[in-house]
Amino acid sequence: MTTLAARAPAKVNVHLGVGPLRADGFHELHTVYLAVSLFDTVTVGPGEGLSLAVSGEGADVGRGPGQVPGDRTNLVWRAAELLARHAGVAADASLAVAKAIPVAAGLAGGSADAAATLVALDAFWGTRAGREDLLELAAQLGSDVPFGLVGGVALGTGRGEQVTPVLSGGSSHWVLGIAGEGLSTPAVYGELDRMRAAGRLPEVAGPAPAEAVLAALRGGSAADLGAALVNDLQAPACSLRSDLRRALQAAGEAGAVAALVSGSGPTVAALAADERSAVGMAAELAGAGVFRTVRAVAGPAPGARLVP
Ligand code: C5P
Repeated sequence: MTTLAARAPAKVNVHLGVGPLRADGFHELHTVYLAVSLFDTVTVGPGEGLSLAVSGEGADVGRGPGQVPGDRTNLVWRAAELLARHAGVAADASLAVAKAIPVAAGLAGGSADAAATLVALDAFWGTRAGREDLLELAAQLGSDVPFGLVGGVALGTGRGEQVTPVLSGGSSHWVLGIAGEGLSTPAVYGELDRMRAAGRLPEVAGPAPAEAVLAALRGGSAADLGAALVNDLQAPACSLRSDLRRALQAAGEAGAVAALVSGSGPTVAALAADERSAVGMAAELAGAGVFRTVRAVAGPAPGARLVP
């Protein structure tokens, strides 16, 4: 076999209820993940040992903030090592990541890359790892990686790694407003803890339940979904990046049903009434001067799978 490729989607958290900091350094979550139609592709081929190449959106390889590591600290590399160890095979493969999902954007791009790597190498090495095995390995790699495998719409609990697919009554259309500079996920969680401790945000006993957004997704109405969106990381993301408030406002002015920060940000996810209005909003937001770039996407999108 020469090469094999798998692709995996970006996500938006349409509900992100964050509980207090746990003893293990993570926060207990009730989140609802929505996979959207923006995909990274991982191509695997023969190699001696592992090698990694990164191209496309954010292909700035390095160790700085917003850069993609090109070495064994990259989640793709770690996914390959973990699967090889699990399956008892030699970790021999060349790995090439073609990025469409911006880096450090709150869209789980790195997690998507790891999920696509597990699927591609499982097939390439013939490891025949079961679905449960892959989910278990994914959870070791990061909180959002299991969802990258599952895709669609899912409830995430624990630190986000326990995923249960949920029903949704149709598709939703979004414009993603992508900033020039990324935000660090741990920094945003840390700011949330500080704001709660200082009384700038209410302390919580546990993560806010996701019932309202789950009901809205079942019903399939954009207005209901827009009214139910929750992100506890939005206030700390805006506290670290004051330009985000202006970006959220711009989404409202461009006709969004509602807008929220995606995950830990700084991407703004603007919900459109329908596909046509998403195209119009994308054009308007592209010219608003608040985003580096915009993408019109739809959800739910499938999880990591081989590219035919
Ligand atoms: O699991 P992942 O590697 O994506 O998490 C990155 C960081 O985000 C963690 O080290 C932690 O600081 C923060 N995090 C958290 N609670 C979660 C998920 C992530 O505090 N549920």
